[in-house]
Amino acid sequence: MTVPRSVTVRVPAKVNVQLAVGAARADGFHDLANVFLAVGLYDEVTATPADALRITCEGPGADQVPLDRTNLAARAAEALAARHGRRADVHLHIAKDIPVAGGMAGGSADAAGALLACDALWGTGTTCAELLDLCAELGSDVPFSLVGGAALGTGRGERLTELAVGGTFHWVFAVADGGLSTPAVYREFDRLTPDAPAPEASEPLLAALRTGDATALAATLANDLQPAALSLFPSLADTLATGTAAGALAALVSGSGPTTAFLTKDAEAAAHVAETLRTSGTCRTARVAEAPAPGATVLGPRA
Ligand code: C5P
Repeated sequence: MTVPRSVTVRVPAKVNVQLAVGAARADGFHDLANVFLAVGLYDEVTATPADALRITCEGPGADQVPLDRTNLAARAAEALAARHGRRADVHLHIAKDIPVAGGMAGGSADAAGALLACDALWGTGTTCAELLDLCAELGSDVPFSLVGGAALGTGRGERLTELAVGGTFHWVFAVADGGLSTPAVYREFDRLTPDAPAPEASEPLLAALRTGDATALAATLANDLQPAALSLFPSLADTLATGTAAGALAALVSGSGPTTAFLTKDAEAAAHVAETLRTSGTCRTARVAEAPAPGATVLGPRA
């Protein structure tokens, strides 16, 4: 067998088309009904043999990415190495395109990418079920980054049921100046929502995904973390209003934010909303992306 010199894996960002959040559990996490949709903005993780674990990162926001063992990709490599009784002697290079600390699961994407890249590089042949277990240990959103497409996440978001999607959705993402800490947004949710009901997936929303109907999906988008994100980052209200006035079918905060997401009726409308947002002064930049996107994909070992 030829040992590859490096393996590159491409991993998508996500938007939560529904994020229903229950009360805090005894372990501090929240039960969720989390409808994930993978979108076509990608990070790439390249694994190359090295003397010791090393992380490098390039791209927008790379200066905010930790390069030590607190990086989720480093923890992923260590977890896979421990499972197979070997050393995590790998250089992980992350080419970032997913907004950092933006509520689009960029860190989770890098963890899923690192797992898959190291598994291919090391020839450890980890089964899909084992990879999903490792992903769930690393973080609530990591299993979805591995599988992509669309899925309902229950529990703390890590228990996935694949969902059918009947068409292509056209999105715009406004990248904010600055980030939000996910735990801080959940704490603010607890303060604002002392009696959160048990979370439930919305049937009309799942039906809109199934039929690929953007107008029906727009009418059902819902993020329970949005009031908390707006409370901590009030200027996001201006971004949401700007994209809506430019013709988006609907607007919402992506996950815990501060990226905001705009669903549009087609590619032309998306280009217009993105251009309006870019020149509005209400965000740092705006990106166009289609959904659903495939999950973590090996781009090919280079021998
Ligand atoms: O699982 P992950 O590490 O991505 O979670 C980051 C933080 O988000 C947790 O420490 C917790 O504060 C919050 N969280 C939560 N309930 C969830 C998922 C995340 O409270 N279901």
